[in-house]
Amino acid sequence: MKVLITGGAGFIGSAVIRAALDRRIEIVNFDKLTYAANPDNLKGWNDRPGYAFVQGDICDGDAVRAALETHAPDAIMHLAAETHVDRSIDGPGAFIETNIFGAFTLLTESRRYFESLAGARKDRFRFHHVSTDEVYGALGLDGLFTEESPYQPNSPYSASKASADHLVRAWGETFGLPVVTSNCSNNYGPCQFPEKLIPVVILAALEGRPIPVYGAGENVRDWLFVEDHAEALLLVLEKGALGETYNVGGNCELANIDLVRLICEKMDEAAPAGRPHADLIEFVTDRPGHDLRYAIDASKIERELGWRPSVGIDDGLTRTVDWYLSNRWWWEAIRKRGFQTGRLGLVDQHRTAP
Ligand SMILES: NC(=O)c1ccc[n+]([C@@H]2O[C@H](COP(=O)([O-])OP(=O)(O)OC[C@H]3O[C@@H](n4cnc5c(N)ncnc54)[C@H](O)[C@@H]3O)[C@@H](O)[C@H]2O)c1
Repeated sequence: MKVLITGGAGFIGSAVIRAALDRRIEIVNFDKLTYAANPDNLKGWNDRPGYAFVQGDICDGDAVRAALETHAPDAIMHLAAETHVDRSIDGPGAFIETNIFGAFTLLTESRRYFESLAGARKDRFRFHHVSTDEVYGALGLDGLFTEESPYQPNSPYSASKASADHLVRAWGETFGLPVVTSNCSNNYGPCQFPEKLIPVVILAALEGRPIPVYGAGENVRDWLFVEDHAEALLLVLEKGALGETYNVGGNCELANIDLVRLICEKMDEAAPAGRPHADLIEFVTDRPGHDLRYAIDASKIERELGWRPSVGIDDGLTRTVDWYLSNRWWWEAIRKRGFQTGRLGLVDQHRTAP
């Protein structure tokens, strides 16, 4: 089996590629290499047989078409996206472009490619769209998102992902493209870009800098170890029923402040010189439109495909903290390349870009 995966140089995409290559699935990684990409995520894997890389933009139909014609994949997994909610507040335009127009372009070319196939190759083809639980909006203190929950996205990021989910569904219903979608909760683990919450906390704690917590830290998220998500994605790709959506989650709800305290405890063990790291916690202005709570009912994927998370938060955080402490070269190289490290995502009419 050969899979063309978009966004494979990112955090989750690279975990999927590592898991796929281990199963001898051939991979074509189609990635624009934006600021969030990191070829180092695939160091030691990108020279394996069965791996090919194409630098390309999903908004560029000619580039997508050329990659499909050249590599003739059996399936497409779509992960490429702008993903940082705070950036979507400062500059929603890039999210609309990549996450909506890019999805449309990829679907258009996937449909053209699908219709060019025949026989068993056509029967086997599928398009798997990788999405987020944020499309469902915010929960109160009770309840869980199911696959039937209404879409109520609140941030430009989640609205753009919700749009892509709708386009994927429409291409399945209207054009007969064999599609399947998965919606997952927050991921964490090795190789996550150091602007996301967990690496931000680990690196601030390591360097004795203030650890920023938005608002009162009461927002609740469900957390899933990235390698568990990669396994779920490969399972949905191989066995998911066409036209269906699957929620993927870690059964691990935590308020942000409790998560941050847990990371500080891990840091106290791993880097005792700086203890107690929790003293570095600093409450900062909340994110506008910050959804109170996300929680996932992942019983459908368990019941129908037999997937459940295998790494608990305690073990997963220990592994993540250890990974960042032992792979300094990885995040130092990103810092040397430079990226926006100041506070993002505070609505400011004068600063906000289209
Ligand atoms: N990180 C999470 O917690 C999470 C949870 C649920 C769903 N998701 C979804 O999973 C996917 C991957 O998320 P991630 O955290 O690995 O993202 P990431 O930001 O780490 O990586 C995104 C990748 O997409 C590539 N990309 C961006 N724009 C592109 C374009 N126009 N053309 C081609 N490539 C492009 C980037 O170069 C990068 O390699 C996204 O679709 C995201 O919405 C993420």
